[in-house]
Amino acid sequence: MDPIQTVAISRKEEYDKLLKDLAAVTYGETFLPSVLSTIACLIYRQLTGIYWSGFYLEHEGVLKVGPYQGTLGCITIAPERGVCGRAYRTKQVQIVGNVHDDPEHIACDAASLSEIVIPVFRPDGSVFAVLDVDSAAENRFDEVDAKYLQEMIRSLVEPLLKGHTGWK
Ligand code: SME
Repeated sequence: MDPIQTVAISRKEEYDKLLKDLAAVTYGETFLPSVLSTIACLIYRQLTGIYWSGFYLEHEGVLKVGPYQGTLGCITIAPERGVCGRAYRTKQVQIVGNVHDDPEHIACDAASLSEIVIPVFRPDGSVFAVLDVDSAAENRFDEVDAKYLQEMIRSLVEPLLKGHTGWK
C-alpha cells in the first residue's frame, strides 16, 4: 500500500469538527454579536468551497446585513426579495444549486453560484435572522449541510434569543 495517502475529510467530519470548535470557543458567551461573528468566521474558514458566510438580521421589517465574512454583502434585503427574503417569508431552509436558475436571487457578488439559507427563530416562532452561506461552486449544498447548520443555530444562537428585545 502506498504509505503516502491523501486523506479526504468527509462532510460529516468537517461539520463535527466545526460544531465542536464553535461550542468550545463560544462556551459561556452570551453577547449575541460576538457569537454570530464567530459562527460566520469559522464557517468561512473551516468548510471547503465557501466564499461568503454571514447573517441577515430582521430590523424594522427588512433584513439588514450583520456579522459576515467574504466579499461585500448587500446592506438591506427586502423580505420579498432574494433567497434570504424567501427563507424569511417561508420560514424554510432554502437550497439553491445554481442561482442563475433562481429569478429571486440577488447578486451581491457575481461569483455566487450556489447557496443555502437557514432561518433563525425567536422563542415566539418569528424569524430573527437568516444565516446565508454562499459558494462559487454549483450544487455545493445539500440536506447534510441543512441538518448541521440548523443544529448549529438551534444549539448556539436560538437559546440566546430568550431575553433579546431587538436592535436599537
Ligand atoms: N444570496 C442572497 C443575497 C445576499 S449575498 O449573496 C451576500 C440572496 O439572494 O438572498
